Amino acid sequence: MKSEIKKLAADVKKFLKSHEEDDLFLKAAAPAAAPKHTPAQTAAPAKSVAPAAREPEEFHTLESIAKQISSCQRCALGATRIKAVPGEGNPKARLMFVGEGPGYEEDRQGRPFVGKAGQLLDKIIAAMGFKREEVFIANMVKCHPMIDPQNPEKRGNDRAPVPDEIALCRGYVERQIDAVGPDYIVALGGVAAKSLIRDAKSLTQIRGKIYDLELSSVQLAKPVKILATFHPAALLRNPGWKKDTWADLKVLLADMGRTPPKSA
Ligand code: URA
Ligand code: URA
Repeated sequence: MKSEIKKLAADVKKFLKSHEEDDLFLKAAAPAAAPKHTPAQTAAPAKSVAPAAREPEEFHTLESIAKQISSCQRCALGATRIKAVPGEGNPKARLMFVGEGPGYEEDRQGRPFVGKAGQLLDKIIAAMGFKREEVFIANMVKCHPMIDPQNPEKRGNDRAPVPDEIALCRGYVERQIDAVGPDYIVALGGVAAKSLIRDAKSLTQIRGKIYDLELSSVQLAKPVKILATFHPAALLRNPGWKKDTWADLKVLLADMGRTPPKSA
């Protein structure tokens, strides 16, 4: 009898815990009550607003986040993806890149930035003096946004994620940022820039400047700086923007106290 009561108590506890996690996630996923961003140089000290509760630590590891992503059906993209693309790289990276969302090739491989834009990103990372394995690479959304979801085999079927998809997914990338704890983030393109630097109206307005990152669902344990630049896919269409991208990234490298290798 006693053991049955114990088991019942354990079940109730488990049930409550799983629902608590769900609630916290939904809160995290809710469209942000946008904290205003100011450039780091002029930023007032951030007011520390204590989060209501800290989720269990195991909810926060990169592995557990990737596992949640792999079975995620929070938005419609879950129904048509081939593979979810959580992101990859050094779990203790000092530098993190955040793109928009997986494309055709990423959907097939389950890895971020492995198509044409990815090859250019690899070159950019090398020019900055890093190895791809040294950094962490992720996206705002984890599943392939398609123009025509009926036709996942079609090439050129990529589109930018819509605000609802980003809102439902952003809890994942926020947790990944918290888990990795980078010093710096590069937002690649307008989608990541406008999602992570929240009073940003356009990429043009904010690129090449360093901001203090503030997340909507996670109270960061230490400050993280963020700089936006062009998306590598945009550079493939507009090679003339490469020199602007390089100028942006040099601002970041200088702040990191790094000089790019001579060949760059
Ligand atoms: N474009 C992105 O934004 N992310 C990828 O992973 C690939 C292409
Ligand atoms: N506008 C965007 O949104 N992204 C780019 O990369 C360039 C222009």
